[in-house]
Amino acid sequence: METQQDPCKLPRNGRRVILFPLPFQGHINPMLQLGSILYSEGFSITIIHTTLNSPNSCNYPHFEFCSFSDDGFSETYQPSKVADDIPALLLSLNAKCIVPFRDCLANKLMSNAQESKDSFACLITDAAWFIALSVANDFKLPTIVLLTDSIAASLSYAAFPILREKGYLPIQDFQLEAPVIEFPPLRVKDIPLLKTQDSNNADKFLSIRDNQIMASSGIIWNSFEDLEQVELTTVHQQYYLSIPVFPIGPFHKYFPAYSSSLLSQDQSSISWLDRQAPRSVIYVSFGSIAAINEIEFLEIAWGLANSRVPFLWVVRPGLGRGAEWLEPLPKGFLEMVDGRGYIVKWAPQQQVLAHPAVGCFWTHSGWNSTMESICEGIPMICQPYFADQMVNSRYVSHVWRVGLHLEGKLEREGIERAIRRVMVEADGQGMRERAMYLKEKVDICLQRGGSSYQSLGRLTDHILSL
Ligand code: UDX
Repeated sequence: METQQDPCKLPRNGRRVILFPLPFQGHINPMLQLGSILYSEGFSITIIHTTLNSPNSCNYPHFEFCSFSDDGFSETYQPSKVADDIPALLLSLNAKCIVPFRDCLANKLMSNAQESKDSFACLITDAAWFIALSVANDFKLPTIVLLTDSIAASLSYAAFPILREKGYLPIQDFQLEAPVIEFPPLRVKDIPLLKTQDSNNADKFLSIRDNQIMASSGIIWNSFEDLEQVELTTVHQQYYLSIPVFPIGPFHKYFPAYSSSLLSQDQSSISWLDRQAPRSVIYVSFGSIAAINEIEFLEIAWGLANSRVPFLWVVRPGLGRGAEWLEPLPKGFLEMVDGRGYIVKWAPQQQVLAHPAVGCFWTHSGWNSTMESICEGIPMICQPYFADQMVNSRYVSHVWRVGLHLEGKLEREGIERAIRRVMVEADGQGMRERAMYLKEKVDICLQRGGSSYQSLGRLTDHILSL
């Protein structure tokens, strides 16, 4: 279901919701999509955001945007280093942003009261902003948390204390292939570790984050019941017992028209796909953060070239460590794949995945990418790098069985085999059929009476009752 209404004509309910996205692409997208969904439910929307990676307000003329005057972070921020130490980055970001966030929120609440505008119903914050709840509490503003990962990944973070107690953590090399009995279908190597110089930082970050979730007035997930039924039951029975939860996803299927992309999306990707045969193309993208070394970059390039399957490859500047863009490619490579391969810096990914020419998505298994692929019935080759990507990849390959997990050393022969398996062989056909089945489930859950539709109704009532 794709609800396309003129936002300016939607009825308003006199209540305003403040959204606070984490300033990274994989977090901005779902939060702004959520804003559009809540706007369609009658809420006015205010986005409080950092100066770092600020969203493009022109694409959302019906939202109010409120920027920090200075987050003290933008000058020192190095995009290529984000994945090196996520816990340290998030601890530092939270510490630097507490004062600007408080100031922004105070100004907003005061000016609205003075001007007798809509009253504020609640704050919806990204879970990684663990400063948000206590600041909002000071203003007596209820807080709901948006978890931008899958329910399974969120649970696996919440299970860290148990995993530590049972001896899975810290991970030992000899245990990597062992199953995590308490958390099927994960193996030890699928535990969503956050790479860090200091493991205390990771524990500290996850524990404060979890405390905030436990103290919140609700949890929103960009997922849907039919996809994560077992995990949702676990949420109700073992974790977050007394907190109302709202799996209302997939968010982007409500309002695909608005773009929250921080980079300009190369529309020539679509005209190139228009010239390709149905289901003939492999789309390759590793999201907005992952970075690879030159050897891996070259193996990917040769794997794609040798597979003889047409490919659309997103090489984001910064994807190859130490490279500006395509310099590591050998001389003559582009000419050799000319016509069969197309490389862009950033693509309109949702449009790409919905294009009939695309037959497979080779992905890093970020949650947005995974959901976007599921929504279009596209089977995946998963190459996770860190954090929740490990869990997503395991679920894609072993629970939903709509893709395969590319494991071991990244080599051109293995890549070629994986591409052929998904694109050409019977195995891939099975994955495609199961992916199409999930796509149907997506359509049903968003329809009137569907699980996400109902969850959204409950969320709206809940916000109005706070
Ligand atoms: C990060 C984490 O890596 C991910 O694991 C977590 O779930 C969310 O935060 P990211 O790595 O960027 O996100 O991956 P992903 O979640 O897939 O989000 C990427 C977004 O960028 C998607 O919405 C995708 O549509 C968009 N995108 C990607 C583009 O618009 N164009 C592109 O070329 C590539």
